[in-house]
Amino acid sequence: EQIPEVEELLKKMSLEEKIGQLNLLTPGGGVATGAVVSKNVEDKIKAGNVGGLFGVSGPEKIRMAQEYAVNDTRLGIPLLIGSDVIHGYKTTFPIPLGTASSWDMELIKESAKVAAKEATADGINWNFSPMVDIARDPRWGRIAEGAGEDPYLGSQIAKAMIQGYQGEDLTKPETMLATVKHFALYGASEAGRDYNTVDMSRLRMFNEYFPPYKAAIDAGVASVMSSFNDVDGIPASGNKWLLTDLLRDRWNFDGFVVSDYTSVNEMIAHGLGDLQAVSALALKAGLDMDMVGEGFLTTLGKSVKEGKVSEAEITIAARRILEAKYKLGLFEDPYRYLDNERPEKDILSKENRKLARKAASRSFVLLKKHKNTLPLAKNSKIALVGPLANNKNNMLGTWAPTGDPSLSIPILEGMKNVAPNAKIKYAKGANISNDTSFAKKVNVFGERISIDDRSPEALLKEAIEVAKTSDVIVAVVGEATEMSGEAASRTNIQIPDSQKKLIKEMVKTGKPVVLLLMSGRPLDISEEMGLPVSILQIWHPGVEAGNAVADVIFGDYNPSGKLTATWPRNVGQIPIYYSVKTTGRPAPTPAFAKFKSNYLDAPNSPLIPFGHGLSYTSFEYSDIKASQDTLQVDSSIEISAKVTNTGDYDGEEVVQLYIHDKVRSVTPPVKELKGFKKISLKKGETQTVTFTITPEDLKFYNSQLEHVYESGEFEFFIDGTSDSDFDGSFELVE
Ligand code: IFM
Repeated sequence: EQIPEVEELLKKMSLEEKIGQLNLLTPGGGVATGAVVSKNVEDKIKAGNVGGLFGVSGPEKIRMAQEYAVNDTRLGIPLLIGSDVIHGYKTTFPIPLGTASSWDMELIKESAKVAAKEATADGINWNFSPMVDIARDPRWGRIAEGAGEDPYLGSQIAKAMIQGYQGEDLTKPETMLATVKHFALYGASEAGRDYNTVDMSRLRMFNEYFPPYKAAIDAGVASVMSSFNDVDGIPASGNKWLLTDLLRDRWNFDGFVVSDYTSVNEMIAHGLGDLQAVSALALKAGLDMDMVGEGFLTTLGKSVKEGKVSEAEITIAARRILEAKYKLGLFEDPYRYLDNERPEKDILSKENRKLARKAASRSFVLLKKHKNTLPLAKNSKIALVGPLANNKNNMLGTWAPTGDPSLSIPILEGMKNVAPNAKIKYAKGANISNDTSFAKKVNVFGERISIDDRSPEALLKEAIEVAKTSDVIVAVVGEATEMSGEAASRTNIQIPDSQKKLIKEMVKTGKPVVLLLMSGRPLDISEEMGLPVSILQIWHPGVEAGNAVADVIFGDYNPSGKLTATWPRNVGQIPIYYSVKTTGRPAPTPAFAKFKSNYLDAPNSPLIPFGHGLSYTSFEYSDIKASQDTLQVDSSIEISAKVTNTGDYDGEEVVQLYIHDKVRSVTPPVKELKGFKKISLKKGETQTVTFTITPEDLKFYNSQLEHVYESGEFEFFIDGTSDSDFDGSFELVE
């Protein structure tokens, strides 16, 4: 449905003015992630050559830019102001892979809402988030930025984040446009190398990779960002099948599509022609806004003259950008987001930091319990060791360009805050890595890996001495912030050697050891899982890191996170994910068998499965059943379980329902997550958890890419992990 105000405006616009709306620039104030940064931005705005800006913040600066657009151009069209607010604005939340591990949709929505509140207080009205790319390859550094491997969970999270950012009413100054990215399949780049080729069947796209993007569109996301990779041999930014046939015609998306950073220009390197050719290709494919590359700005006019692009095609794209501005209420008030009082009031407030602390504690996953080392008594004698134990530079995690590392609470400080009577002695113990050339690559955005002046031996010696005089050792180890994230792929996903050595030396002391593992990806911790240690995965926890960690290790909060991406035994198992398809020759468990689908040198099973996460207490599942044996097409079935807290602490559990479609026209996954509920159980308490399943929930895409269910038997189980046996089955009858 057309917006009359926008149509009126379009009638007044010249071709050049329309093309100007399709141009997105960055003056390079934030983090530039490509070789190019826009030049002469002020002049270009005044000349009507700019539709939006990003990498600028603060009401004063943005007001200046907005005034150039409003006062100095013929039609006074205000600018969109974008930013990468990926996991919080100034109040940095845990990395998205961490927040996803909370499986708490309300919390995820609230954190997105706080991010929007802070970003809009600083003048920003358009967010380049959520990133919903399914990722099943932990070598890929950007796995940190998404929700992990599962399409169902990913879809729920996409929806929660969009609701948090956009709210009910986009004209409210605390809400902003969201962008679902990177469309599409960016997480499936070959060999886990960033920006690399993607080649997959349409069946897999529809069943396994598209659902979160589709969920975002259904939730009303305002914009879509095209990805760097190719899809079916055509780069996403110039892929008509993707941007028009699928996105517009099949999914009815009515917002606008923005390219990724110079991804239009990068089609030249992909072999699709010169700048004029790739820009025309992108526009015709359905791309509306060109990020940084200025191919639209500099060539579309010529393409119209030469009859390669029509003005009508440009009008369509310009309309979509103007409609977004209209939805934000910018025509009514271009300065809507520019209130000098707001930053002080809304940014990094006490409540926001409180929510960041809560989100961080909920994101931690207890991977392994050894004896009853955790939780720690608040008056323990603790040796706190490790290069990440007292390290402000690495708490925020990747893609937190608006966060300020100096405001983050390191683990040491948080432990002192929460347990002032604990006797804590700290020693660094090791460098994050001793490899100077590796450190140089990681340190592009600041010193994340600092190599100590003292020798590795001296660092280790100090840690051993501190450890010997303590009751318990807490070692904070893992990856520096920029060891994951964009352009941070790794072929070795183990803890760096320097730190592995520290861990082993700590174990040798014979004292109980707790590993606090920080990373932006699933790691290969096969060796550490075999040691007598407890392991708590804490991701990169954000600005409240230390306080949240202390809340959990001292038992004020009982960990409840569950993994949303599988942890492999070794990189040779990658890609690895729980919902694998059936094979005609399944591997026998646990033993190897010739002519079966298995490895000679490792089991098929992962080191730690999707959905896994322990608690200080224990949960028992019983009485798992379906309400009836058959499900009629126009009805529903209830699948339920009794869950009992059988341990010594109150706790929370993520109850998960998995279903296996046993008979169907295209090979099914061996199991698929179909529901989850996070519940809170007091010590000794039992609750019945019920999932209602309808035929709609059993749909999949068949070979014709129709979304259908097919009758037959479905097996199910309910458990606190994906690694479980089926409890029962029902029949879908048509
Ligand atoms: O939003 C990002 C994207 O995720 C990666 N390339 C740069 C964009 C804008 O900063």
